[in-house]
Amino acid sequence: MIELPFGPSAIDLAAAPNLADLGALGTLTGASLDPAVFDYTASIRFDWKLYRQDVRGSIGHVRMLAAALPEIMPLADAAEIEQALRDICVEIDAAQHRLVPLGEDVHSHVELRLRALLEERHPGRGEDLGRRLHTARSRNDQVATDVRLWCMDAAAELRASVIDLQAALLDRARTWPEAVFPGYTHLQPAQPVLFAHHLLAYVEMLERDLGRLQRAAAEASVLPLGSAALAGTTFPIRREITASELGFGSISANSMDAVSDRDFAVELVAACALLMAHLSRYAEDLVLWASDEFGLIGLSPAWAEGSSIMPQKRNPDTAELTRGKAGRVFGHLQALLTTLKSVPMTYGRDLQEDKEALFDSAATVRGALRALTVATRTLELRVERAAERAAAGYSTATDLADYLVRRGLPFRTAYDAVKRVVLDAVARGVPLGDLSVEDLRRFHPAFELDALEAVRVERSVGARDVPGGTAPAQVCAALGAAEERLQQHRSTAA
Ligand code: ARG
Repeated sequence: MIELPFGPSAIDLAAAPNLADLGALGTLTGASLDPAVFDYTASIRFDWKLYRQDVRGSIGHVRMLAAALPEIMPLADAAEIEQALRDICVEIDAAQHRLVPLGEDVHSHVELRLRALLEERHPGRGEDLGRRLHTARSRNDQVATDVRLWCMDAAAELRASVIDLQAALLDRARTWPEAVFPGYTHLQPAQPVLFAHHLLAYVEMLERDLGRLQRAAAEASVLPLGSAALAGTTFPIRREITASELGFGSISANSMDAVSDRDFAVELVAACALLMAHLSRYAEDLVLWASDEFGLIGLSPAWAEGSSIMPQKRNPDTAELTRGKAGRVFGHLQALLTTLKSVPMTYGRDLQEDKEALFDSAATVRGALRALTVATRTLELRVERAAERAAAGYSTATDLADYLVRRGLPFRTAYDAVKRVVLDAVARGVPLGDLSVEDLRRFHPAFELDALEAVRVERSVGARDVPGGTAPAQVCAALGAAEERLQQHRSTAA
């Protein structure tokens, strides 16, 4: 396996080197494009982000060439090329957005730089040495390989960020394991729940996202290199060597499919889109909870900004932006599918359009995950206000109906009786907890003194003692299971 020295994250690289004028850059083929066309078709502004993957891909390729074709690529030459590629990686690590590009795309840049560097090191011979690297390879299988490696790297980084958010949610659930909280449907007060139960709902959603990210990485883990332009190569290469050097699970079965397949990119962006949909739901809950009207949580200055005109204000900007940025990631998914649609077999330059959608999706989701992790870590539940709202809105009326069912009534009959109880109480402005047995008995004779007990919030929550329910015993077990799962994720990720 090829390990590069520790370097910047695949996702967090700055968006683009500051390239004012690409017109003077070279191409690998020596074509002299009109500057306006070159500026339009060049991808170095964004695909330079692939440099670590491109360098790794080339090292895997040259190692395989040395093993399979030593007469064309002697071991010593391969070692020289590998060293120069490693040095180029470090060079770009350091340059970042100040990178001075040599070619139209990252592949050209790395190759042109390699040839120049080798020529410096071995005057009269180095350039030729570098020119051997592209034996049995096309940019078509090269870029497909780079993008797959990038997807695998990015999926691992995103998984780590999802796990961090899960940890923050579990930490908050652990802080208030038995605090009650209003549960809503249709955003109307529905039934009381435990706050921890609500937070664990997000942990479950994120767990599915982890699975999707893992499956997206597995989809990407198929080596295209060796497919060359579209038909394979005339050299007896050994693709399984390249695959194992680069950490791919398998090699592609059809060269034509391999150079034009970007399904794996769609899978990763789709995983990002659904993750972003989940984050936008959590963000929306935070906005609501933090509003004066709900008043269920306090806003920490770590993630809520003030207003430039209204001195009294603090706004949940982070959460609002997460709602807003969901649209951007959904758009990328649509854009990617539209780009892939109708591309005739095999590679078409259309496919270059996969990158910005992919990079920005991952960067956007990663930013949202990080910001919401901060918001979650600093989240302060207003325990008393939450308890008050949990009891409001006749939220335990279902418990009263269930009470009558235990006394032998059919549920629908019990429901009708309790509905009359509630309508009357609403008309008189009396909360459910303040009703007397006499009040209840006016609507059904089966009510006894213990019916008053059934409408207490703690009793209502505790009664939902089914697997997946909100009773403290269930939530405590769920919390323990989620913490254990988190430990496993952490140990497999490390
Ligand atoms: N920048 C190109 C891309 O991202 C690299 C492959 C170019 N291949 C070609 N045959 N022009 O797709």
